[in-house]
Amino acid sequence: MDTPIPALYNDCAYTLVSTEQISRTVDRLAAEIQATYENSGRRLVMVVILKGSMPFAADLMKRLTLPIELEFMKVSSYGAGTKSSGEIKVSLDLNRDDLQDIDLLVVEDIIDSGRTLSRLTQLLKNRNAHSVRTCTFLDKPSRREVDFVPDFCGATIPDEFVIGYGLDYNEKYRNLPFVGVLKREIYEKK
Ligand code: IMP
Ligand code: MG
Repeated sequence: MDTPIPALYNDCAYTLVSTEQISRTVDRLAAEIQATYENSGRRLVMVVILKGSMPFAADLMKRLTLPIELEFMKVSSYGAGTKSSGEIKVSLDLNRDDLQDIDLLVVEDIIDSGRTLSRLTQLLKNRNAHSVRTCTFLDKPSRREVDFVPDFCGATIPDEFVIGYGLDYNEKYRNLPFVGVLKREIYEKK
């Protein structure tokens, strides 16, 4: 007997990163991060960028055997049409004044134009953290508008709009357990 496919899954044209691939990717990233920080002698703070990075950050932190601390930030990038300088709006900020002794690891779901992470890392470096590195689950390098290279990257993907594993379209699809390409008719029908 076939299990019916949930309606939510039907909006997906095809799977880009399966649940198994996600798991293997997060294993590899955790090993890279562990090796980078394990002898640092400093405190490591994971800065989780809400909302999209939540499932990825949760999976990643459970694979690290380092002592880590968790913080959250919520940022959005003004559209390129609004401000060509690519300003970001911080609606939830870090609230600590001990950054000089700390390694910050910013955890992001996906990099597109590069504006969000480029600005955010600049902002955190200006607050004198000992180090600021970035870890993204996905990267679309062909969409870059500003130079930005993450320190840790799960997978580079083509220029497609993707959903699932935290990624949304109008706040929907974040709970899909895989990353899929959203059917064009869903966002082109309006
Ligand atoms: P950037 O500042 O253009 O790099 O913006 C990155 C942000 O855009 C991500 O944190 C996502 O919120 C959003 N984004 C970019 N591409 C996608 C996608 O394919 N699916 C869902 N969200 C995306
Ligand atoms: Mg995001």
